[in-house]
Amino acid sequence: MNVNEQLNEYAQMTEEALGKYIPSADCPQKSVIEAARYSLNAGGKRLRPALVMEFCRICGGKPETALPVACAIEMMHTFSLIHDDLPCMDDDDLRRGKPSCHKAFGEATALLAGDALAIMPFEIIAKAGAEKIIEPVYALKIIQLLAQLAGFVGMIGGQTLDLEYENKQPSVSEILEMYRMKTGALLEFCCKAGCIAANWGVQEKLIPAGNFGQRLGLAFQITDDILDITADEKTLGKPIGSDKENGKYTYVSAVGIDKAREYVKQLTAEAKEFLTEFSDTEFLNELADILAERSN
Ligand code: IPE
Ligand code: IPE
Ligand code: MG
Ligand code: MG
Ligand code: MG
Repeated sequence: MNVNEQLNEYAQMTEEALGKYIPSADCPQKSVIEAARYSLNAGGKRLRPALVMEFCRICGGKPETALPVACAIEMMHTFSLIHDDLPCMDDDDLRRGKPSCHKAFGEATALLAGDALAIMPFEIIAKAGAEKIIEPVYALKIIQLLAQLAGFVGMIGGQTLDLEYENKQPSVSEILEMYRMKTGALLEFCCKAGCIAANWGVQEKLIPAGNFGQRLGLAFQITDDILDITADEKTLGKPIGSDKENGKYTYVSAVGIDKAREYVKQLTAEAKEFLTEFSDTEFLNELADILAERSN
């Protein structure tokens, strides 16, 4: 199987499982359930689930063992996107090629759908622990890591800085620290949680896994900023020029597109260096290269 076929397989596994976690329901509160399903099912690259399952596999586990964690992180990520698009944040009307959640369901329902998608991950991982799909002690470790890396020192902290820096000129190191938190933290989670799900809670593997995720995350966010300028809306599935319109001073604003592209290459090479601590890393090496060249 080549990288793209493997990515598709991980995406299919994730989508099938996500559909089961949130089935359509005919109940008085169905609007919030439909809003969450709408955003989750809208597509997306499903990068984070692939990282979780692949790290579990290279650590000797079955990818299926990590599937609950893969679904959990895709929910957490989708929550971050729903809230990121709200008028009080980036005010973007298009996401994953469809009207953003608040455009389709209204602001209050989108806010609540995001809230639910931020909470459900903990239920899902706890259940995987209670049912011993994942060793209970490792499920607890994964829950702790997710709360930490999605919270004040991770994604939410980074999103806060992103808003605080609007219409200002943060330094390059401030920008990179903000990226480390808002985007790198969840990718760091994916790589570490995959190892832990395979019962590899050992520090000497978690550190390189986390560093790989962090470098990949920085490269990923810088590429996202480049695409905000160079891509077309149809391919990207989200509005072009959103950063400029919102007064975001990105890494690209600071150093220009050419230097930003160079830095993406450097970060990708650095990320791949951390994979030498593992074996059977062909997929991850190729994935890192594909992400550096991506057009959406
Ligand atoms: C978008 O993430 C938000 C960033 C962290 C840049 P993705 O580009 O992974 O979005 P989807 O999941 O494919 O829609
Ligand atoms: C958001 O960064 C990262 C998140 C944590 C959601 P962006 O605001 O650049 O992401 P997009 O471009 O809207 O996907
Ligand atoms: Mg944003
Ligand atoms: Mg945004
Ligand atoms: Mg962006």
